[in-house]
Amino acid sequence: MTSDFTETQLMIRDTARKFAQERLAPGAVERDEHERFPTEEIRELGALGFMGMMVPEKWEGSGLDTVSYVLAEEEVSRVDASCGVIMSVNNSLVCYGINAYGTEEQKTTFLKELASGRKLGAFALSEPEAGSDASNQRTTARRDGNRYVLNGTKNWTTNGSTADLVLVMAATDPARGSKGISTFIVEKGTPGFEVAKKEKKLGIRSSDTVSLSFTDCPVPAANRIGEEGDGFRFAMKTLEGGRIGIAAQALGIAQASLDASLAYAKERKAFGHPIAELQAIQFKLAEMATQVEAARALVLKAARLKDQSVPYGTAAAMAKLFASRVAVQSALEAIQIHGGYGYVQEYLVERYLRDAKVTEIYEGTSEIQRIVIARSLLKDA
Ligand code: CAA
Repeated sequence: MTSDFTETQLMIRDTARKFAQERLAPGAVERDEHERFPTEEIRELGALGFMGMMVPEKWEGSGLDTVSYVLAEEEVSRVDASCGVIMSVNNSLVCYGINAYGTEEQKTTFLKELASGRKLGAFALSEPEAGSDASNQRTTARRDGNRYVLNGTKNWTTNGSTADLVLVMAATDPARGSKGISTFIVEKGTPGFEVAKKEKKLGIRSSDTVSLSFTDCPVPAANRIGEEGDGFRFAMKTLEGGRIGIAAQALGIAQASLDASLAYAKERKAFGHPIAELQAIQFKLAEMATQVEAARALVLKAARLKDQSVPYGTAAAMAKLFASRVAVQSALEAIQIHGGYGYVQEYLVERYLRDAKVTEIYEGTSEIQRIVIARSLLKDA
């Protein structure tokens, strides 16, 4: 595969791999165990240019393509999937959203800070009653002169308590359903904006996932992204790219499961020989490697379509659907190969399973990806 990449793409992949092994690996277990947010590690990823990879240099991003981004995302997630999701949300939801749809003023004020890694962003679409049914927004934004007043609750917000700003989807005209939603940049410290609850999670435990509450929270009208009513389309378009990021995160977890399985199979002896000599183990390894390569091909296809500026939403949904399933299956097989050692914390593979599962849930469950794919198939049929 490597011959398909440019020198820059290979350099980005190697830089990410080195950083992940040297800086992320040593503390990953402790951060997971104590649910400790990787503040310093994310600051360093920002200094490397990995928090605003696809943002033009004019806005202090790295001006790279989506292929470079997925290569970096895979390498980071291969070692620490919590860092992977923090990076993915900032890059492909927050930075992308402001870069593609924000005003010059918003880019000057907010995008430079986010793309350089000096600040961190979050994306708040989900609500207690609006998960898969994302247009069922209950959070409202009422116009009041040159500002909006936000009221409501957001759920499952990645980076929610650590972010300096949050992109919030809210109903400006509730009667209009998906056409009555708008997007706002809400800064930390705005009166009435609070972290309501920090979730205790199965996996990606060192990333923070919170619910947010807005009570008569005033947001300048200048912080609205796009026109009133454009918020749902904004969320859907932004999530198309987000799903490529999560697919790359899943790919990283799958690759890590294969790496661990290969190493263990060669090291572990049973019946007088390394278990790698047993066909039962070889078949598992062969199957995992094939699935991982297929997932990588789908992730790269979606990334390349995005780089060519042609529609990529269906390819992104396919990549996420497939790569997330491969991540879960690979982690399960890795545990099986490790036997009892796979079920305890001494080896890393139990964390891979815990981290893998959420890739089938966030940024659209696997069921939602199937809906997106089927609708596009039927539209084109
Ligand atoms: N691009 C542009 N427009 C789109 C679009 C897209 N990808 N998808 C939908 N739209 C438009 C439609 O064309 C439609 O407009 P018209 O009425 O003018 O035709 C409008 O939006 C409404 O679309 P639908 O009728 O298709 O809406 P729906 O209610 O049936 O929902 C859905 C569609 C695909 C199920 C959508 O709700 C969805 O994607 N749900 C999942 C939400 C999700 O992914 N949440 C993730 C939260 S963020 C997160 O997880 C981040 C994190 O922290 C890690």
